[in-house]
Amino acid sequence: MLDFLKEYAKHPRTVGAVKASGKRLAKKMMKAVDFGTAKCIVEYGPGTGVFTREILSRKKEETMLFLIEKNDAFYYKMRTLYGARQDIVVIQGSAEEADRLIRAHGVKHADAVISGLPFASLPQDVAYRICKATRHIIGRDGKFITFQYTNLRKEFFEKYFTFENIFFEAVNVPPAKVFVMKNREKAEGAQ
Ligand SMILES: C[S@@+](CC[C@H](N)C(=O)[O-])C[C@H]1O[C@@H](n2cnc3c(N)ncnc32)[C@H](O)[C@@H]1O
Repeated sequence: MLDFLKEYAKHPRTVGAVKASGKRLAKKMMKAVDFGTAKCIVEYGPGTGVFTREILSRKKEETMLFLIEKNDAFYYKMRTLYGARQDIVVIQGSAEEADRLIRAHGVKHADAVISGLPFASLPQDVAYRICKATRHIIGRDGKFITFQYTNLRKEFFEKYFTFENIFFEAVNVPPAKVFVMKNREKAEGAQ
C-alpha cells in the first residue's frame, strides 16, 4: 500500500499532509458540485484518491474527469486504477498548467475544479499560476473548490475568486474548511 507519510517525508511542501483526507471531508468537498449537469470535472492533487472515489460515486458516466497529479507514486497509483477508463484522463503534471493540459484533450472549460492541493505550503508563485490557470478553466460559471486547514490563504484567493460558500468539517485531522469559489469578473491584480 502506498505510504502517504513516506511521500510527505520526501516532498513535504507539495504533499503538504502526513495522511490522506478523511471521508467526511471528501463528502463535504462534493456538496457544491452539481453532478446532474456537470460535463467536465478536474481534480488537482488526487493523492491516494479519497476525493476521486467520491467524485466517481456521484458523477454521470458521460462526465469527463481529469486527474492532475504531480507526484510520481500518486500518479502511478491513479493511472493503475483509472488509466483504462474512457471517462477519466490521468495526467502527470502540475496544476499550474491545468488549462493547457486539458486543452490538449480538446477541453477548454470545467464545471468544477476540485483541489486537494496544499496551498498553504506551496510557493507563492506556484499558487499564483494555479489560480490563473483555474480562472481560465472555470470560466464564468464553474466552481473552484479547495480545502484549507487555516484561513492563511483566504485573502490570496480573494484576489482571483469570490467566495460562494465556506463549509467546516470538524471530524478531520486536522479540522478543515472547504472554500467554494467562483471567478471574480474583474479581479483586481489578477490576469
Ligand atoms: C494534501 S495532499 C492531498 C491528497 C488527497 N487529495 C487527499 O485529500 O487526501 C496534496 C496532493 O497534491 C499534489 N500536488 C502538490 N502540488 C501539485 C501540483 N502543482 N500539481 C498537481 N498536484 C500537486 C501532491 O502530490 C498530493 O497528492
